[in-house]
Amino acid sequence: MPATADRAVQRLFFALWPHQALAERLFQATRALVGDAGSQAVALEDLHVTLAFLGAVDPQRRACCETAGAAVDAASFTLTLDRVGHWPGPQVLWLGSSRPPPALTRLVESLTGVLGACGHVPEPRGFQPHLTLARRVALWKPAPAPVPLHWRVDHLCLVASERGVAGARYRVLRRWPLRKDAAG
Ligand code: 2AM
Repeated sequence: MPATADRAVQRLFFALWPHQALAERLFQATRALVGDAGSQAVALEDLHVTLAFLGAVDPQRRACCETAGAAVDAASFTLTLDRVGHWPGPQVLWLGSSRPPPALTRLVESLTGVLGACGHVPEPRGFQPHLTLARRVALWKPAPAPVPLHWRVDHLCLVASERGVAGARYRVLRRWPLRKDAAG
């Protein structure tokens, strides 16, 4: 690794990342919604649910965050995506769940708990689970959600947001498995 990479500050976040087959299903199932919104669609390979946004992280803090990721104690669960919504402020069109599973809440609580040691402060507005489908959606005419998609969530990911010529792109850096013992 070049010495500069050792010292580099990265923009990092923890997220749930769908496997390729699910990402393809999600992408296909939401094209009509996104097409109607006349917006900047999120690319198939960038679809995710953010759990904790860390912002600019130096290598020392990244090491702390990786230790924290490994220390998360949470069970796998099924997340049903059956709801579409729009936030006019950030102009985001999103897919979410009408009944977020308690295991997702417990995962975020465990993650924010261990990230406290790295100086992470959770957002005051609280965790609002969503998968961004498109940005710069100024106006949105409510539309029915696509057929519910069931996502077996069994990994937690640490992801880098990197600037490309066409805007931010994401790269999964680390994955940690969730426990397999949950019913939810
Ligand atoms: P999103 O989850 O609504 O799409 C990387 O930027 C990811 O972290 C994106 O998915 C983004 O929004 C989420 N995120 C949460 N808080 C953020 C912030 N303050 N700045 C940038 N991205 C943020």
